[in-house]
Amino acid sequence: MLPDIVDALAEVNIVHPFPIQRMAIPIALTGTDMIGQARTGTGKTLAFGITALQRIVVPSERDFELQARPGAPQALVVAPTRELALQVSKDLTVAATRRRARVLTIYGGVGYEPQLEALATGVEIVVGTPGRLLDLANRGSLDLSHIKVLVLDEADEMLDLGFLPDVERILAKTPELRQTMLFSATMPSAIVSLARKHLRHPVNIRAESEGDTTTVPTTAQFVYQTHDMDKPEIVARVLQAENRNRVMVFCRTKRAAARLADDLAERGFSAAAIHGDLSQVLREKALKKFRAGTVDVLVATDVAARGIDVEGVTHVINYECTDDDKTYVHRIGRTGRAGASGIAITFVDWADLTRWKVINNTLDLPFADPQETYSTSGHLYHDLGIDPAATGRLTPAPIRESAHRTAAGGEDSRRHEERRGERPRRNRNRRRLRNGLPVDQREEAATSQAAPDPEPATDPAAVDPAATDPAATDPAAVDGAKKRRRRRSRGGRTSPSEASA
Ligand SMILES: Nc1ncnc2c1ncn2[C@@H]1O[C@H](COP(=O)(O)OP(=O)(O)OP(=O)(O)O)[C@@H](O)[C@H]1O
Ligand SMILES: [Mg+2]
Repeated sequence: MLPDIVDALAEVNIVHPFPIQRMAIPIALTGTDMIGQARTGTGKTLAFGITALQRIVVPSERDFELQARPGAPQALVVAPTRELALQVSKDLTVAATRRRARVLTIYGGVGYEPQLEALATGVEIVVGTPGRLLDLANRGSLDLSHIKVLVLDEADEMLDLGFLPDVERILAKTPELRQTMLFSATMPSAIVSLARKHLRHPVNIRAESEGDTTTVPTTAQFVYQTHDMDKPEIVARVLQAENRNRVMVFCRTKRAAARLADDLAERGFSAAAIHGDLSQVLREKALKKFRAGTVDVLVATDVAARGIDVEGVTHVINYECTDDDKTYVHRIGRTGRAGASGIAITFVDWADLTRWKVINNTLDLPFADPQETYSTSGHLYHDLGIDPAATGRLTPAPIRESAHRTAAGGEDSRRHEERRGERPRRNRNRRRLRNGLPVDQREEAATSQAAPDPEPATDPAAVDPAATDPAATDPAAVDGAKKRRRRRSRGGRTSPSEASA
């Protein structure tokens, strides 16, 4: 490795290579094509990043001006989401603080001007998402004809149906004689066969031995069979587990993520949402706050499932059973990174039990029959180190605003009362949980607003459906409720276009 790269990394305490880096970099530096697989959080970014940085010619070198088109991109990294592209760019920029290469992120949802200007000035490395890359290449602003090193990060996703057409169009614009590298923690054999079409005699590098698990061994996994209506209560208790720092909660739909983030914030937790219905500015803001620690709970769709590296994520919660084993591996891979320990908790609804079993078997996990779990279940508190006195909220429930709204403005006057230390007037409409906990009324209001189709009255007070709602233990009733919920949220699923565009 070039001393300039070694020194730049030493400045950020990256001194000893991780296994995938030790195995992949010496071979990749020879220019050979490569399929690199290593578990989540084990340093794949620098494995291809260092290679790319070292294999290009940088402006300070004598050969730079001798190139056919100095300033045209020489290395291209394609990633599935904008946030991941930004993160990879940042990692490359850190590695390039001495061996000065210009790194540009090309991604959608933001203005074209800065990206066009940077391209006009000249860049050596481009990291981007497929939509905008193709857009700028088609306009003639992005010249891909001098690419020497091409990387597909999260390669199995990039070669999956959602992205494949765009990725193939991008590949077609690059020289045949480029070096192509594919990296991911998951690499299904079908994808590997398909990938061979685009690779020349690739070397396969796997940074683990045959019998190793796909999931990270330092991450403790828990799988619970839960009732949908009880989940916010369970999450609220998990958020009070010992040694918890940052937490990522993954939801299946954008709407569910938005609602849960609101619900948790209202319960007094410091939560933000990130999903594809938010503007790019808001998406980046949410992740920035999470990285900075301004919020410590990030409720996300799969837009944040792959590649995102945030230090100090102690817990990942799957709010629903994941679609497949790959998503499970990537989502829980947001914790337990770079040798840290982590805790991964997965809620499985009755209706998803069969799907969970398939995932469980594929990954060879020991959770074929997840234990039925409620927010009041003793084992939950025991498993996760939660104080048995923990309740579902950190702050008292708000008083229903509509009941108080006066000409002077209900909410403001109530806050004013509280600030002055006066007891807010009691809200007669407020319902209470049977164990004395107040009801989350905003959630209730949100449900009725967002769901035009009538839904049978549900009792959000049911902390323990088994104790309070006899119908809840009837799998048929739960099934029905689940189907209704699914129907309403159709169209809200994360799609590749949501992720990158
Ligand atoms: N040699 C090293 N020494 C110390 N820390 C490292 C080293 N290499 C990488 N890291 C750190 O490890 C963390 C995880 O690295 P990275 O994001 O590249 O993982 P990954 O293998 O790409 O994971 P994923 O599959 O989730 O994308 C990062 O914070 C990175 O800075
Ligand atoms: Mg990665």
